[in-house]
Amino acid sequence: MSDIYTAHYSVLKEECIHYLTENASAEGRNYYADLTFGGGGHSFALLESSDNAHVFSTDQDPDALANGKKRIEQHSAGSRLNLLPTNFEKFPEIIAEKYAEEIEQYGGFQGIMMDLGVSSHHFDEGRRGFSFRFDAPLDMRMNSEDSNIQTAADLVNNYSAEDLEALISDYGEEIFAKQIVQNIISKRNEAPIQTTKDLEDIIFHSYPKKMRFGKASPSTKTFQALRIAVNRELDVLESTIARLYPLLRPGGRLAIISFHSLEDRIVKREYKNISDNGEFLCRILTKKPIVPTERELSENSRSRSAKLRVIECINEEMLSPKELKKRKYQGMRNGNEK
Ligand SMILES: C[S@@+](CC[C@H](N)C(=O)[O-])C[C@H]1O[C@@H](n2cnc3c(N)ncnc32)[C@H](O)[C@@H]1O
Repeated sequence: MSDIYTAHYSVLKEECIHYLTENASAEGRNYYADLTFGGGGHSFALLESSDNAHVFSTDQDPDALANGKKRIEQHSAGSRLNLLPTNFEKFPEIIAEKYAEEIEQYGGFQGIMMDLGVSSHHFDEGRRGFSFRFDAPLDMRMNSEDSNIQTAADLVNNYSAEDLEALISDYGEEIFAKQIVQNIISKRNEAPIQTTKDLEDIIFHSYPKKMRFGKASPSTKTFQALRIAVNRELDVLESTIARLYPLLRPGGRLAIISFHSLEDRIVKREYKNISDNGEFLCRILTKKPIVPTERELSENSRSRSAKLRVIECINEEMLSPKELKKRKYQGMRNGNEK
């Protein structure tokens, strides 16, 4: 593993930390969770936000975990950061099984965050197969140690034409999915497609000639689609958000940074479901998503599509007069109150 994490830029870091720590408690402990540890930028910023911050982080990537372990050992407050090697879909159960008592003493989590997708490390570490800039086996598993997960090569060589086309057009929003799949099928009938460069070449020749040299490479969308499918990124996100919300204490916040419209749509919809289902009291703090400043964009062009959305858990005492009135009105409409 190269030491590439040192160059990692944490997207929307100031904004995210501001939302999570703004109304933290001065007494007792503030528990935070960063479910996408990566290079640790957000986790360490949370840890350093105050001496009473305690952070649980998760990552499923062995490189991120190994690098994180080293950084935690070297940090003076490292004992307040607990890095768990897991897919974040298991986080609510892990907390319930092992840490609930400890955290419930302080009312629950003050903040939980996700900075979705893969890290720059994945794109810059050629051997992982995420990037068409390097010639490498077509892998793309974030959890590269789990041999039960199908690699991108498995999908490209074994999926039916219909499934591949649906995958590339749904997850990549690629309008040339049909041509790409036709060419994949004819190539794989000759020999299995094994590497990023094999696939890049097929995609390049599937694009109309005059569109092959645009601003983005023809491979961008298909590679994104395969990565999302290999790591079940959208399914995992969708099934996790609603299970995180009950872990928050009143005033606690859930902050999610997404990088493309498919993710953002899920975050928006799940927040709305939480606020509409009547079981929880909450406040969506970002009617419009927070996006990077011009300065951040000039320092890190990879942040250009980032969007941060935040929801806050509240209780009856925290309702404003306007919110109380709205709630009463909703109750009357639902027939709950006379
Ligand atoms: C965009 S990076 C996070 C960067 C980090 N916030 C920082 O500042 O360094 C996303 C990280 O989350 C991890 N990840 C993505 N989906 C995950 C999941 N479902 N479970 C656990 N880790 C995941 C990836 O392996 C990657 O390391």
